[in-house]
Amino acid sequence: MARKGKRSIGRRQFLANTAAGGAALWAMSPMARVLGANDRLRLGLIGGGARGQDLLSQALKLPNVELVAVADVYTRRHDEVRRVAPAARAFSDHRRLLDLKDVDAVLVASPLHCHARHFLDTIAAGKDLYSEKTMTWSIPEAEACLAAAKRSDRVIQIGLQHVSTGAFADARKWVADGVVGKVTSVQSWMSRNTPRGHGQWVRSVPSDCTADNVQWDLFLNGRPARPFDAFRFINWRLFWEFSGGNITENMVHQLSWIMGVLDLPVPVAAYMSGGVFSEKDGREVPDTIAVTLDFPTDLVVTWQSTFSNSRYGLGERILGSHGTVERVSGSTDMVTGRLTSGVRYDPEKANRPDGAAVLGQSPDQDHMANFVDCVRSRKTPNAPVEVGYRTAVAAHMANLAYRQKARVTAEMAMATGDR
Ligand SMILES: NC(=O)c1ccc[n+]([C@@H]2O[C@H](COP(=O)([O-])OP(=O)(O)OC[C@H]3O[C@@H](n4cnc5c(N)ncnc54)[C@H](O)[C@@H]3O)[C@@H](O)[C@H]2O)c1
Repeated sequence: MARKGKRSIGRRQFLANTAAGGAALWAMSPMARVLGANDRLRLGLIGGGARGQDLLSQALKLPNVELVAVADVYTRRHDEVRRVAPAARAFSDHRRLLDLKDVDAVLVASPLHCHARHFLDTIAAGKDLYSEKTMTWSIPEAEACLAAAKRSDRVIQIGLQHVSTGAFADARKWVADGVVGKVTSVQSWMSRNTPRGHGQWVRSVPSDCTADNVQWDLFLNGRPARPFDAFRFINWRLFWEFSGGNITENMVHQLSWIMGVLDLPVPVAAYMSGGVFSEKDGREVPDTIAVTLDFPTDLVVTWQSTFSNSRYGLGERILGSHGTVERVSGSTDMVTGRLTSGVRYDPEKANRPDGAAVLGQSPDQDHMANFVDCVRSRKTPNAPVEVGYRTAVAAHMANLAYRQKARVTAEMAMATGDR
């Protein structure tokens, strides 16, 4: 069973407080500026690490976008971000950034266990939000973020960029056109490899990563206080307190693609097996995973992942009575040995004897540009909060099933509360 007790009660209480505080703040916050097509968009960045710096370079490539401020608990990140945006103000505490009147929208790329706090506080401060996936660390946090988003008129994009791909548009069209037919099964997988002895995701700790340069209590974000631990701070992905492992790092991307193509609701049940098999390096989250998700529409989705073989890259196969949609990325072709990528449709002779194979043609959209366009137009972005919610709940159901070693239904997952 998921651990209950002081910590989880404390976190639920924290969420209730944050949500209530957020609503009050929102009511008091001045109306955000309405941006014209040519007005400058003034961004803030919360979490200026690897992904935060990626997002920043994506945003700064777009016309009329500037970075006004960065908030990060580690001073090294202030310096790194200012190399790209020298005029940006830098803070350790994200609330100082959210106090700024000249920030219109905020990019959040903090570790998973901070997403909900940064989401709720950003919305409460009246700023638009691009939040990295997975939307939240737990199901109660996903509920709180969904509720806050419904009360607000802020533009929110979740960093599930697979739904902005041309492959997504092609696959959705094939399904809508009826050429895929009845779908009862979807297979998906993701595989990576590293030199033996070096586990996936393990980062070295920079020499300046010391208690003096890191605001450790802000990083812990409600987790029990303890002395500064540089390894955990840099390698938060390996530990349940801060992460959901590869389920929340990567399955969630593919799930957003599958659930979006087939318009799927939250699954009715999840199963998950696996373990720490590739490298026994002290990590808690599994490196080898097999997930099964049951959907209420007579459909089973499977997802498998390994960190010690990369031959088949990443992909999804939607198996329909009338045809198959296959998307692969970085997969080694069994015949030619070449790396292949793309999306294709192949008819099933049993039901479409005259059907022809089709290769996907649609261009990718820039997920960040889509956010910025929506901030200006006030339209709904490609990965709105509702997609963030459904994929987060499905991901957390899988992790609950793994940790409880049991089939977990949606009702059980909702009732578990924490994890
Ligand atoms: N969409 C994608 O393709 C994609 C790719 C990579 C990472 N991500 C996501 O981006 C997020 C960040 O991943 P990363 O690899 O950049 O991690 P990272 O550790 O490199 O960066 C996180 C940054 O947040 C800072 N931080 C920690 N706690 C903070 C707090 N309370 N307030 C402000 N800053 C805080 C850290 O100092 C660090 O600089 C994760 O949620 C990850 O899943 C998404």
